[in-house]
Amino acid sequence: MDLRLHGKTALVTGASRGIGLAVTRTLVEEGVRVVASARNVDGDLKELPVEAVSVDLATPEDAARVVDEAVARVGGIDILVNNVGAARPRPGGFASVTDDDWLATINLDLMSAVRTTRAALPSLLERRGTIVTVCSVNATLPDPLVIDYSAAKAACLSFFKSLSKEVGARGVRVNTVSPGPVATDLWLGKGGVADTVGGAMGAQPGEVAAKAATDSVTGRFTRPEEVADLVAFLASDRVGNLTGTDTIVDGGLTQTI
Ligand SMILES: NC(=O)c1ccc[n+]([C@@H]2O[C@H](COP(=O)([O-])OP(=O)(O)OC[C@H]3O[C@@H](n4cnc5c(N)ncnc54)[C@H](OP(=O)(O)O)[C@@H]3O)[C@@H](O)[C@H]2O)c1
Repeated sequence: MDLRLHGKTALVTGASRGIGLAVTRTLVEEGVRVVASARNVDGDLKELPVEAVSVDLATPEDAARVVDEAVARVGGIDILVNNVGAARPRPGGFASVTDDDWLATINLDLMSAVRTTRAALPSLLERRGTIVTVCSVNATLPDPLVIDYSAAKAACLSFFKSLSKEVGARGVRVNTVSPGPVATDLWLGKGGVADTVGGAMGAQPGEVAAKAATDSVTGRFTRPEEVADLVAFLASDRVGNLTGTDTIVDGGLTQTI
């Protein structure tokens, strides 16, 4: 299927590793001119024909800066992929999560997307573009182990649903994807979920990850490329009447209909 994305422009956040890097690769393969952003853009992104922009989206000013850079470099934004995010497990329970922890999580997992979207909206409206945001299955499967992350991702889901209603009539589609465990550094890297939870429980990270995999019907983590293909599909006008949706990609982890 031709996704008819050739010649479009995209801004991808959190593009240096994991899901964001996979989304960037997929969009490049589809002929999209991609502005790829992260704090460190000197790694794998160097090998891709993209416009790389180094920004820290934990700071309010960098959301506007990355959008300005994107518009300057590729002329405007047809596709905004809000992917940046981080999850820090809280093995010490709710009482161990400080105000600063809560605010840091809400800042990166909700406000970075709010701010980037606010800055990109004029260009998206002008070009009748589309927004795809990476939320999480924890938005609808709240987990005390990631209590602040679950709340921030639930708010993210709510925000983009509201926004879809405001801008839909003006030609901008707004959708989210909600992955379960994905094989990236967030889960499997040093200091990732498996490492942190394993350290707290006296278990090997591999054992923690294996247990998480068996919670899914498919018995495995989702690959970042599988999330990327879904993001590209949602960005395509092939699904031009699809807006305000959340698509769960979790190997059947979610048990309800
Ligand atoms: N992996 C999972 O199991 C899973 C499941 C559900 C949802 N998600 C969501 O999917 C998204 C991507 O996750 P991932 O697993 O791909 O994570 P990851 O492998 O840890 O990659 C995170 C990306 O975000 C960038 N980043 C982090 N902090 C940043 C900041 N302050 N400013 C700018 N860029 C920043 C990182 O690059 P730099 O370090 O170079 O800045 C990196 O490119 C997140 O929103 C996450 O919540 C992941």
